[in-house]
This record gives sequence, C-alpha cells and structure tokens, in this order.
Amino acid sequence: MYFVFDIYGTLLNTHSIMNAGQVSAYRKSIDIPWNDFSASWRERQLRYSWLYTLTGSYVTFWEITKIALQDTMQEFEIDPSEAFEDTLMNGYNNLSPFEDVPEFLKTLLDKDSALAVLSNGDERMIKEGLKNALLIDYFKYILTVDDIKKFKPDQEVYKLAPIAFNCEPNEITFFSSNNWDISGANKFGFKTIWVNRGQILSEQLPGSPDYEVQTLTEALNFIEV
Ligand code: LAC
Repeated sequence: MYFVFDIYGTLLNTHSIMNAGQVSAYRKSIDIPWNDFSASWRERQLRYSWLYTLTGSYVTFWEITKIALQDTMQEFEIDPSEAFEDTLMNGYNNLSPFEDVPEFLKTLLDKDSALAVLSNGDERMIKEGLKNALLIDYFKYILTVDDIKKFKPDQEVYKLAPIAFNCEPNEITFFSSNNWDISGANKFGFKTIWVNRGQILSEQLPGSPDYEVQTLTEALNFIEV
C-alpha cells in the first residue's frame, strides 16, 4: 500500500514554534495575543500560497512563510526586526511532531507499506524539518511542489505521487489535516483521510474526505495494511 502525507499541520505542529526557547523570550517582552499571532501567520501563509499560484507567480514556501510573517508582524504592530524574523523562521526548521506521528508511521512501515510526503515546502525546508523531528527515515520519497512551482491544491501537484510510486491515484491513501488539501487530493482521485486535528466544521468543497478522524491513531480503523 502507498501512503502519502501532508507535512505542516499534519505531521509537524506549526504552532509549536511559539513554545521554542528563543521565542519564549519575545513572548515575555512583547505583549500581544501570541496564539492569534500564530494563527494569523499560518492563515496568511496558506492564503498567499493560493494567491501566488492563481496569479501564475511562484516563490518557495520558505519565502511565502517569511513574507506572511512580515505582514503578520505589521498586523500586530511589531517593529521590523531581522533578529525576530530569523528566530521565528528558524522555528520552521525545528517544529515538533504531533504525538501520534512516530508510532503511526512505524506501524505502517511494519506492514510493508511505502510512505511519502507531498508538501508545499521546498526540499531543504522539508528535509531539515523532518530530520530535526526524527521522522525523515520513514519516507521513501520527499515530494515537493518546488519541482512544478505551483502550490496545493493545484491538481498538478498531486500527480507527483502516482508518478513516484508508479501506481494509479486510487492506490494511494493521502493524509492531511488541511480540509482544502483533502478536497484537492480527493478530487484528484486519492483515497483521503482528513485528520481533523482542529475539529473544524466540514465545508462543502469540490472533493470530500473518504474518512474523517481526529488523530492518526484513529485512522488505523480505516486503512488496509
Ligand atoms: C504542506 C502545507 C500545506 O505541508 O501544510 O504542504
């Protein structure tokens, strides 16, 4: 069986940056609602990725993340500061995996499955993040949108997975915590499992998840391994 994973928000917790050591120092000295800051940064990062693709523009996801950070700093009236930006961007190289991730990936591999990640991130960003989270060795393929210069959910992105595994789309089970990513992947023809970590309400998008779970562990009930 072939299993493909989104990374940010699904395997790695983007909001874990806020607990990193050096960020804590800023949290003490700058009085803003930090959870809102983190949510707004993430929302902007994703929205910019869609707008860049819709307008036929492209810069790497690292750059998108940085631009989104700068604009979020402006929103929260944080003075421009390279040190602040570097500290928060470095957080993206050191995100914590969600608790259920290592055990789940190990279970799949024990059952003779092949695993890949398919992410908006560029190769350097993905590899560093997965290495630091001790997850990189689980994956046979690191598939990145950087090869085609369009972000998810552009349908071309999802083609990278069946090409890598030399299989049909419906032989792939795709996991994402992002409902719009599940929509794109399901429309493309993957079997999809929405890991609805944030327990958000379902939305009427083009493709719908085959299964919805709150944790990866729960997904074991729905996959054949
Ligand atoms: C990714 C973003 C969408 O990993 O979270 O592709």
